[in-house]
Amino acid sequence: MKALVYQGPGKKAVEDRPMPEIKASTDAIVKVLKTTICGTDLHILKGDVPTCEPGRILGHEGVGVVETIGAGVTAVKPGDHVLISCITSCGKCDYCRKGMYSHCTTGGWILGNRIDGTQTEYVRIPHADTSLYRVPPGTDEEALVMLSDILPTGFECGVLNGKITPGNTVAIVGSGPIGLAALLTAQFYSPAEIIMVDMDDNRLEVAKRLGATATVSNRDGKAVDKVKQMTGGIGVDCAIEAVGVPATFLVCEDIVAPGGTIANIGVHGVKVDLHLERLWDRNVTITTRLVDTVTTPMLLKTVQSRKLDPKQLITHGFTLDQILDAYDTFGKAAHTKALKVIINAA
Ligand SMILES: NC(=O)c1ccc[n+]([C@@H]2O[C@H](COP(=O)([O-])OP(=O)(O)OC[C@H]3O[C@@H](n4cnc5c(N)ncnc54)[C@H](O)[C@@H]3O)[C@@H](O)[C@H]2O)c1
Ligand SMILES: [Zn+2]
Ligand SMILES: [Zn+2]
Repeated sequence: MKALVYQGPGKKAVEDRPMPEIKASTDAIVKVLKTTICGTDLHILKGDVPTCEPGRILGHEGVGVVETIGAGVTAVKPGDHVLISCITSCGKCDYCRKGMYSHCTTGGWILGNRIDGTQTEYVRIPHADTSLYRVPPGTDEEALVMLSDILPTGFECGVLNGKITPGNTVAIVGSGPIGLAALLTAQFYSPAEIIMVDMDDNRLEVAKRLGATATVSNRDGKAVDKVKQMTGGIGVDCAIEAVGVPATFLVCEDIVAPGGTIANIGVHGVKVDLHLERLWDRNVTITTRLVDTVTTPMLLKTVQSRKLDPKQLITHGFTLDQILDAYDTFGKAAHTKALKVIINAA
């Protein structure tokens, strides 16, 4: 089968690989129908993720059909259409029992990282009962690919941790797929204002279409002043960091209002200054989280009932044969205006 393989920093190739096999009774083999590329795959290719070794098939998102199951799998059967979660969970360890699947002692984020992923034709999914979700009949499967990672991430790490409530003022710093996923799901809670911040005018335009009440370009580095001005000098109740660089976390520190929350989503590779000398008396909360995907069943219902339309985040389509072009398009988003790309594997 064809697979997109990480070959070490800066290197990737399409290789011919053997079909995966069941290794544990709780495994399932899933035939991939649709997958996508995540910003995190680009991080891996830069060499930022040491747990991902050369030779690994990338990808941690997708929708597919169950091909075979191990003897211990009871929740899905061959022929079932399933959503593949980016987080693998046993459902039984102490972390899973707390709903913290991201820290599952025999799972967590392993797919396309510590084990072979979804950018191929068939993938082995450990703990299949609790790591796959049956696709309700009639649901748009392309839209569901957005539920493997980006929607639960924006919702859990941004919106839920950010404690957004009706009437709140929210700023989301970063309007990439994750920031936009936070924008879509923040609207479940009717905040009064959602200010989107980015450097890319196209992404800010998209944000306006998806419900932002205001947009701020940070190309001049003046996002703090602009957000302060828009909020009568007070700042925002909830500042969501959806980039993962020091500059944007610092923006969040400077725009959070007294009593507010900074909800960090971004993956940070270098140290960030925490200005407690300015924040200590401001009653703020700072949260961090690796997505748990505990809200996937709830998000599935909102897609089914059309309260949420994640398809709006899809800009390009490719076949598995064209996956190198897909990476190229996704990697040059400022030029190609790409958000999420769909790769049809079947
Ligand atoms: N916590 C988790 O579980 C989790 C899960 C998935 C992804 N992530 C992380 O979330 C972050 C966002 O992911 P994404 O796929 O949307 O990334 P992305 O790179 O597509 O989007 C980031 C956006 O930030 C903008 N930006 C960069 N520097 C800026 C600045 N100084 N001011 C304003 N805007 C700026 C860019 O123009 C871009 O639109 C990444 O760090 C990713 O690794 C975290
Ligand atoms: Zn991802
Ligand atoms: Zn577990």
